[in-house]
Parts: sequence; structure tokens; C-alpha cells
Amino acid sequence: MKLSIPHIAAWIAVILSLATCASLPYNQRGEKRPAAFYLAGDSTTAVQSSGGGAGGDWAKVIDAVKNSISAYTPYVTIQFGHNDQKASANISIEEYSANLKELALEAKATGARPILVTPLSRRNYNSSGLIIEDLAPQRNATIQVARSNGIDFIDLNAASTKYLNSIGKAKAVTYNLHLMCITLL
Ligand SMILES: *[C@@H]1O[C@H](CO)[C@@H](O)[C@H](O)[C@H]1NC(C)=O
Ligand SMILES: *[C@@H]1O[C@H](CO)[C@@H](O)[C@H](O)[C@H]1NC(C)=O
Ligand SMILES: *[C@@H]1O[C@H](CO)[C@@H](O)[C@H](O)[C@H]1NC(C)=O
Repeated sequence: MKLSIPHIAAWIAVILSLATCASLPYNQRGEKRPAAFYLAGDSTTAVQSSGGGAGGDWAKVIDAVKNSISAYTPYVTIQFGHNDQKASANISIEEYSANLKELALEAKATGARPILVTPLSRRNYNSSGLIIEDLAPQRNATIQVARSNGIDFIDLNAASTKYLNSIGKAKAVTYNLHLMCITLL
């Protein structure tokens, strides 16, 4: 497989205390283990992304899962598409799908619960004033991978598209990280 690992530019760990959530698993001492969320993805996941590199960031996610597993219930969210869809990346939808599956299954094998996330919409409007759904193939593929492998998913692409259509272009650009950046928040 051709790994999209170089595109795993960003990962951030967020520890959330969900002590009141009754459905969380218990540790060996019978105590609830709070959730630990690890976010893997491109720079739409976290803007402090290093912008590429040798792929060490996914290894950090896996290490973080391993290190947290005795005390936490680890979840790994996985969101790609923005970089992978660029022609220069030369990654087909089939390769994109295979990559997502491999990352999710590796997270699962390490003991985490993977959650695939469809890519955040760009804030790019067409002349009808509606979002140009240029990540539709990646959204579709992400959902297909999730469904066919029994992996949970969050349809962030649909949710963000719906939201951006409702607020319109003028308000949408107020989310720009900097002038002209219609992708990052
Ligand atoms: C694009 O990827 C395909 C399949 O991996 C490969 O055969 C081809 O040489 C690549 N093209 C470029 C320009 O790198
Ligand atoms: C704008 O995008 C919407 C949603 O994809 C589409 O239904 C509509 O036809 C598009 N309008 C133009 C002018 O392309
Ligand atoms: C969604 O993915 C499936 C399976 O890969 C494919 O058959 C279908 O044409 C895709 N639909 C769209 C709208 O991309």
C-alpha cells in the first residue's frame, strides 16, 4: 500500500473526563476508565500540524494509545482527504480507502476504538451561494470503509456542509484562519 502517513501532519491528544458516562468500560479494579481522545489527521484536524514529515506522528498516536490504555478508554479519530485528494499526492480513492482502513484497524488492534471522520468542508461557494462539495468522493469512501469494516464514523463533511450552507459565504469567511484561507479554522 502507498501510505498517506506523510500527510499525517497533525495529532493532538485531548483527555476528557467522562466519569459520569455509565456506558464506559471498567478497568480491572472495577473503576470506570475515562475516555482519552487522540486525533489523527491532516491540518484541518489541527492547525499546529507540522506540514508533513517522516510519518512519526501516527507512531505517536499508537504509542499514546498504548500508554493510556490501563487508565483510559482510548478513542482515535481519523480524518483525511484534503491533502490526499490533490493531484500531486497521486493517491487514488482506492488507496485512500485502503489507508483509512489500515489506520483504523491498527488503532483497533492496539486497543483503541477508531472513529473515522469525513473531511471538514472547505468554505468554497458556487454561484448559487452553496458549498462546492469537492470532497464528496472522500466523504463517500470514508463512510464505505466504516460501514464495511464495522468502524464508527462521524459525518463531519455533511454536518459542516449543512452548517456552511445555512450561514452563507459572508459569515463563513469569518472562520478563516487567515485572509484567503478557506480551509483551516
Ligand atoms: C501515481 O501512482 C501510481 C500507483 O501507485 C504509480 O503507478 C504512478 O507512477 C504514480 N505517478 C506519479 C506521477 O508519481
Ligand atoms: C451549487 O452547488 C449545489 C450543491 O452541490 C448544486 O445543487 C447547485 O447546482 C450548484 N450551483 C451551480 C451554479 O453550480
Ligand atoms: C460511493 O462509493 C461506492 C463504493 O466505492 C461507489 O460505488 C459509489 O459510486 C460512490 N458514490 C459516489 C457518489 O461517489
